[in-house]
Amino acid sequence: MPKKSFVSSLREFPLDRAFTWFESGPVLLIGTACEGKANIMTVSCHMSMGFTPLLGCMLGPWNHSYEILRKTRRCVVSVPGADLMEIAVDVGNCSGASVDKFSRFGLTYRLGEESGAPLIEECLANLECVVRKIPPRGGPYQFVLEGVRAWHNPDREEKRSFHARGDGFFIIDGETLNLRDRMVKWQDCI
Ligand SMILES: Cc1cc2nc3c(=O)[nH]c(=O)nc-3n(C[C@H](O)[C@H](O)[C@H](O)COP(=O)(O)O)c2cc1C
Repeated sequence: MPKKSFVSSLREFPLDRAFTWFESGPVLLIGTACEGKANIMTVSCHMSMGFTPLLGCMLGPWNHSYEILRKTRRCVVSVPGADLMEIAVDVGNCSGASVDKFSRFGLTYRLGEESGAPLIEECLANLECVVRKIPPRGGPYQFVLEGVRAWHNPDREEKRSFHARGDGFFIIDGETLNLRDRMVKWQDCI
């Protein structure tokens, strides 16, 4: 019997786009303030570092927020709901160097006591952070942020966050499933 040849359905993928497979945390807004001016930028390249309030955030030097964050070492990480999806994309397509994004996009804020950075009223959650690690100038541009005070907004009707798929595509959170019964190893933690 001749051996059946195996035909793989795997296709090579451009290596420089592979990050889009993993860029699936919620899209965030990073808020900073300097000399009385508050600003926000959109960030999708980030990761939670363990079961802690530490967050690794990729923030490139092409952003106005980059130097401000290096200087002030304080920021607020905000989670916009799906109702703010278009605004979050627009926030990431203009610069605080030339635009007052809060008035352009009609967002409301007050400065956090711990961070001096903007807590956004319309977001689902806001984490006041201090910068624990500043990246080297030449990159990789990974800041380590540590949450020092957390705020959420349980009154918002829209509870869903949204996620970047890369290249301008996004996913909105779907159904929530309860699999707590299967978490037999982790009963003490949940
Ligand atoms: C959906 C989306 C995700 C983004 N993710 C990142 C990111 O992870 N890191 C980054 O440095 N810039 C990211 N950007 C780009 C910045 O948000 C953008 O350059 C913004 O204009 C910077 O604002 P600023 O100049 O006021 O700081 C993203 C933009 C969009 C629209």
